[in-house]
Amino acid sequence: MITATTPGKVILFGEHAVVYGRPAIAVPVTQVRATASIAEGRAGNGTTILSTDLARVVHVRDAPADEPLAAIVRAALAHFNMPDPDANITVHSTIPIAGGMGSGAAVSASIVRALAQFLGRDLDAAAVSALVYEVEKLHHGTPSGIDNTVVVYARPVFFVRSQPVQTFSVRRPFTIVIGDTGVKSPTKIAVGDVRRAWEADRDRFEALFDRIGSIAGRARAAIETGEVERLGPLMDDNHALLREIDVSSDALERFVRAAKEAGASGAKLVGGGRGGNMIALADEKTREPVERALRAAGAKGAWVTSVE
Ligand code: PMV
Repeated sequence: MITATTPGKVILFGEHAVVYGRPAIAVPVTQVRATASIAEGRAGNGTTILSTDLARVVHVRDAPADEPLAAIVRAALAHFNMPDPDANITVHSTIPIAGGMGSGAAVSASIVRALAQFLGRDLDAAAVSALVYEVEKLHHGTPSGIDNTVVVYARPVFFVRSQPVQTFSVRRPFTIVIGDTGVKSPTKIAVGDVRRAWEADRDRFEALFDRIGSIAGRARAAIETGEVERLGPLMDDNHALLREIDVSSDALERFVRAAKEAGASGAKLVGGGRGGNMIALADEKTREPVERALRAAGAKGAWVTSVE
C-alpha cells in the first residue's frame, strides 16, 4: 500500500489581499493532515476514490468535471499522459473542511503524490503544487495559489501571486493556538463577496489591501530577526483590517476577544473568514489558558502549534 500525507496550514498574515497581488505569510500545521492511500483496484474499474470524511465514493470515469477529487486525478493523469488506471484511493483528513486550513489543497496534494508513486512517476514539489492549483480553482474561483504552495512545500512561505515561492527562516520559534469556530465557510463565497465590494469601491479596497500587504512585509522581517513580540500587534492590526473588508463574524470576534483576554498577545481570523478558524499568538505561559478560553468560547477544535 502506498500512502502520502500532507499537512494543513494557516495564513499568518495577508489573506484576501494576497488575491490582489499583496504578499502573505502562511505556515504548515502538522497537527492536522490529509492522507491518501492507493492500492490496485479491480481490473476494468478505473480509479475510484473513497473519502471516509465525506462518506463519498467517486468513480473518476463517471464523475462530473467539477468534482474536485476526480478532477485532481484527471489533472495528474493528463500531466503524465497516462490512461485511467485500475486503482482504489482512500482519503482521510483531520483538517477541518471549509475552515481556512487548506483541507482541499492538502487532500489534492496527497492524492497526486500517492498516484504518482503508484504509477512510478517522479513529481517535484513545483509540479504537485501546479496540479493542485488547477483544482483549487474549483474550490475557490480565483485562488491566489498560497494554499497549494504552503501545504506542498510544508515550510513557512512568503507568497506573492505569480512570483516564485520564497521560503524564509524563523529566527526564534513561536507558538500559535488555533481555534475552530466549527462554522463551515466556503472560501469561494467570501472571496466573491470581497471582489464585489472591491469592484464597487476600488480605491478604498486597494488602500486596505496595501495596509494588509505592508503588515505581511513587516511580519516577515520580525520573524526573520526573531522579534516575535512584534507579531502580536501586527496580528491585531491585520484582524482589524479583515473586519473592515467584512470577512469576520460574531463567532470569530468572540474567539479573538476570548484569546486576548486569556493573555494572547495578538489574534486574528485566518483564511477566507466568516467562520472557520482563528489564530492567537501565545507563549509557554499563555498557550494553555488561551486554548482553554477558546474551548470555553465554543471552539469545535483547538490546536497548539510551533512555527519554526
Ligand atoms: O480559506 P483558505 O484557507 O483556503 O484561504 C483563503 C485565502 C484567501 O486569501 C482568502 C484566498 C486565496 O486564494 O488566497
